Amino acid sequence: MPRRMLIAGNWKMHGLRADLGFFDSLAAPAARSNAEVLICPPATLLAAAAERCAGTDILLGGQDCHTNATGAHTGDVSAPMLKDAGARYVILGHSERRSDHAESSELVCAKADAALAAGLTPIICVGETLEQREAGEAFDVVGAQLSASLPAGAGTEFVIAYEPVWAIGTGLTASAEDVARMHAFIRTRLSKPASTRVIYGGSVKPGNAAELMALDDVDGALVGGASLDIDAFAAIIATAG
Ligand code: PGA
Repeated sequence: MPRRMLIAGNWKMHGLRADLGFFDSLAAPAARSNAEVLICPPATLLAAAAERCAGTDILLGGQDCHTNATGAHTGDVSAPMLKDAGARYVILGHSERRSDHAESSELVCAKADAALAAGLTPIICVGETLEQREAGEAFDVVGAQLSASLPAGAGTEFVIAYEPVWAIGTGLTASAEDVARMHAFIRTRLSKPASTRVIYGGSVKPGNAAELMALDDVDGALVGGASLDIDAFAAIIATAG
């Protein structure tokens, strides 16, 4: 079976109830698309977004989860809570979590296990910094992140997001050639290469999405800034067929 494209919007720490009208505008582009269309709003908006998206093709996801299902962890959100609020996916190991919260790949792996146990599909983020790329270490860094971050159980389904840190929110994107090379490398590291989706993130915009989405080993996009603008996000979805 061919891999279905996934176009995911990562709203990060943006979004209030007043922004829920976005989902009404997204319903038609999502219905027209062959791709899976996912928005990961802040956890505070998940339940209201789920109500708003009922009966549409829009899927919802979280941006992080705890390794435990419940417990004394003030301020944290668990995978079953995300699922209960309407999430189907959860982004894990985003570079902003790895840097702001010192998340290790081992922690990301434990979170992925928790997400899978709750019935969520993890979107596991990997990517090198500019210094690492310039030092010729991009493949080693991403390879090490994959080795330590990926859940091992048989039959587990997850998505990999390749997000070069230097391309996130900077307006810089990796060249199509660099993306193709890294995605092909990532695929060689997967236990189920034919069915696992590898999506690209880092300043994906309407102007560069078509070229990136056309690459053989690119199965979609993780979109930050441009996912807050309905016209830009709809245009990106349209490039995925
Ligand atoms: P960006 O963010 O599209 O704003 O670069 C991507 C991401 O962080 O997932």
